[in-house]
Amino acid sequence: MSDSGLRQAQDKMTAAGVDPTAIEVFTHYYRELEAGATGLIPEDTIDPLLDPPQLADVEIDPEAAREAFGRTAVIKLNGGLGTSMGMDKAKSLLPVRDGRSFLDLIVEQVQHARAEHGVRLPLVLMNSFRTRDDSLAALARHDGLEVDGLPLDFLQNQEPKLRTDDLTPVSWPADPTLEWCPPGHGDLYTALLASGVLRRLLEAGFRYASISNSDNLGAAPDPTIAGWFAASGAPYAAEVCRRTAADRKGGHLAVRKSDGRLILRDTAQTPPEEMDYFTDEHRHPYFHTNNLWFDLEQLAAALESRGAVLGLPLIRNVKTVDPTDPGSPEVFQVETAMGAAIEVFEGATAIAVGRERFLPVKTTNDLLLIRSDAYDLAEDRTLRLAVGKAPLVDLDPAVYKTVGRFEERFAAGAPSLRGARSLTVRGDWTFGADVVATGDATVPADGAPGEIPAGTALGA
Ligand code: UTP
Repeated sequence: MSDSGLRQAQDKMTAAGVDPTAIEVFTHYYRELEAGATGLIPEDTIDPLLDPPQLADVEIDPEAAREAFGRTAVIKLNGGLGTSMGMDKAKSLLPVRDGRSFLDLIVEQVQHARAEHGVRLPLVLMNSFRTRDDSLAALARHDGLEVDGLPLDFLQNQEPKLRTDDLTPVSWPADPTLEWCPPGHGDLYTALLASGVLRRLLEAGFRYASISNSDNLGAAPDPTIAGWFAASGAPYAAEVCRRTAADRKGGHLAVRKSDGRLILRDTAQTPPEEMDYFTDEHRHPYFHTNNLWFDLEQLAAALESRGAVLGLPLIRNVKTVDPTDPGSPEVFQVETAMGAAIEVFEGATAIAVGRERFLPVKTTNDLLLIRSDAYDLAEDRTLRLAVGKAPLVDLDPAVYKTVGRFEERFAAGAPSLRGARSLTVRGDWTFGADVVATGDATVPADGAPGEIPAGTALGA
């Protein structure tokens, strides 16, 4: 049955004009899905990554750093749909500060770095079919962004969502666009190659790329890391951060005992009975930020010699075809993670960077925090913590999980969190302007739904 499922999926992709390379890659992962691949990485097959070089110790001649930075391009992953926040478009279009979105701030970070260091620094988005039009429209509001005729984006591929019962492509006549999904950010490699953008960057004289998520405003262009990476001669580097006890999620790098290569292990690849090791910040002291550096020449050589199928570990996501309709058919979305490619590149390395380079927005809690005065917007357009430690925001998930409902309840702006250790909200509350939280501020569910009047002081 599933063999015909594969054929149906391939035919559907061909009919939709999907690139043949992407169909070949999809076929590889389909067969893995069919074979019941789990991709588990047991603890006794790996050694922890204990002692990566530290950015804080790096000494690079400023001229060498500028030279490497001058040959660096910035690539932002912008193809995801922010489904965990109930979105069906790019998260990077959400406003963060003074009406400026993530994308606006990314553009300003790039423009600031160009002006300060006198470098070309092209910005290229990886979009998916759902994020392209409005993201390009947002970029069009910024003058002088293009560099040497290079494209401002390239498009990642699309693949059919597969029914979990028989692995056939799902059919959803109510909205056929929902029959498709982007194949995760591991598709970057296929898309960079098939779109020709990799070649074009090389032809325009760029040798390095700095890649990060568009929802991470911490990953600003950085000449010192560019200089370190160029001097390392490595084909590939991952930025990692020191873990704290609170960092229980997120992948970590490890050294595979069988061949000494660095690998990425995510939650889904950890045997459930070994999760204690995974979350132990002493055993695996660094987590993976998804900020990467590529040597584009070595990347092109590796991709061209291996073919596009890198054989990354498969991630099997179970969702409903219409994410807003729990009664719609259950589907698998077959994905791969960009950072898993570390195992493919001989000589790949890692560097430990400061926490300020990792500021992801995965939930509305994160969004409220970066919109609040707990962060200042610096001249280089990065967000800097205004206090020693970021307060812990915990909004009632039953009320605030989706962006639409969150925005309605914070339409008057984020409360002041600068003096807070934590803000916990239970129940349905709409916040007035200039609410100030201090210490451990809690809004209990009693009395909800209701309003927190403008100017209220919450907490000790
Ligand atoms: P996440 O894994 O956080 O996914 O992506 P997401 O799509 O933003 O959010 P959820 O899981 O749907 O809630 C990390 C980065 O990778 C990009 C996203 O845009 C984000 O910047 N991404 C993700 C892609 O570019 N393509 C994909 O297929 C998936």
